Amino acid sequence: MTQDAGISAAPSPPPDVRLPRVRLTRLALGAFRNHRETILKLDGRHVCLYGQNGAGKTNLLEAVSMLGPGKGLRSASLSDVTLKGADNPSATWALSAVLHDGEIDRRISVALEAEDDGRARRISRLDGAPVGQGDLAELVRIIWLTPSMDRVFAGGAGDRRRFFDRQVLAHAPGHGPAAAAYEKAMRQRNALLEQMRPDSAWLDALEQKMAEAGAAMAVFRAQALERMQAAIDQRPEGLFPKADLALDGAFERMAAASPDLNDLERALAAAFRSGRSRDAAAGRTLEGVHRTDLRVFHRPKNMAAADCSTGEQKALLIGLILANAQALFERDFAPNPLLLLDEAAAHLDSDRRAALYDELAALGGQAWLTGTDRLLFDAFGDRAQRFVVSDGQVRED
Ligand SMILES: Nc1ncnc2c1ncn2[C@@H]1O[C@H](COP(=O)(O)OP(=O)(O)O)[C@@H](O)[C@H]1O
Ligand SMILES: [Mg+2]
Repeated sequence: MTQDAGISAAPSPPPDVRLPRVRLTRLALGAFRNHRETILKLDGRHVCLYGQNGAGKTNLLEAVSMLGPGKGLRSASLSDVTLKGADNPSATWALSAVLHDGEIDRRISVALEAEDDGRARRISRLDGAPVGQGDLAELVRIIWLTPSMDRVFAGGAGDRRRFFDRQVLAHAPGHGPAAAAYEKAMRQRNALLEQMRPDSAWLDALEQKMAEAGAAMAVFRAQALERMQAAIDQRPEGLFPKADLALDGAFERMAAASPDLNDLERALAAAFRSGRSRDAAAGRTLEGVHRTDLRVFHRPKNMAAADCSTGEQKALLIGLILANAQALFERDFAPNPLLLLDEAAAHLDSDRRAALYDELAALGGQAWLTGTDRLLFDAFGDRAQRFVVSDGQVRED
């Protein structure tokens, strides 16, 4: 596909427009969902994508989200992403992008590639050389807001935890591997506890793994929460209400009080050990960092987010994501994030839309927005580049 196609001169934005410091200047998709071959030549401004339902707008945001670690904003399995259709000659999808990172351009490519054993794997490359997902995570932080998050306050703890963990990952790329190690050891422990006489040395070892990973997770979460809350508190009063955040989890509370990994590890290991017979009876692990919930309060109304109206929840959520972006921008060593806002503008009144664009323009990274109508983005003015998306094809407007 287009991976190694010449990187032609980037288009230039209108003069006097301040560009985001970290930005994509090119994005190419091959056999990615309904995009057979799409190339976006970006001039570095914020990006607005509009077009009818099913045109392929969210697919483009998903492609951007997959330049970072994890499964992307749809949490899709890798093979689902490949363009379906009889006339697709390519068995696998591929993405490539040019990331302007402060001073220099980096070429990122991510593709599903069939290996010798016949299995397809996701392979990431940076400037042509294979890299791990963790390396990309250090380079590009991506946060997003999608319509499916609208129910995050009303839904279950698991949804909220995943939502929050996504925010944490943007602060601490190590959170992803820690969570994966924790889950893996927990599955093994749960399986072992189903046996009549589980090997206690093996149990000890698994619980120690869970304790190590869980302690790191608790510290990452507590630190990210503190940074997000600080960023919220610094926000001017505006059209997106402030939230008060709290983590409902014993180990995160410990981590917030004193982020000592050894103490946390010991506490977690002790909890797992003393919970063995209870967990064996339940068939799952009942205590640990996988049970943590995020509590969100609407500060001006002093009300739990779950009890607020749908519109209020949406405004709260946007405020939260903007605050988290701000928290990331303020950190010296972290790269500025890309911000993906899927259908965020549609449900806002015109004042809130204008306020959103002003806030995005004031941040240091590139925002990507979708909507069905060009008019939704009018208030962005010349601070954004606009593209029409139609049936898996894109054209600059
Ligand atoms: N693997 C795939 N191959 C081909 N088309 C796909 C694939 N996955 C999703 N699609 C199609 O992509 C379209 C949805 O694109 P999406 O980006 O969600 O649209 P929207 O512009 O409304 O955000 C749908 O028509 C869907 O059928
Ligand atoms: Mg969509």
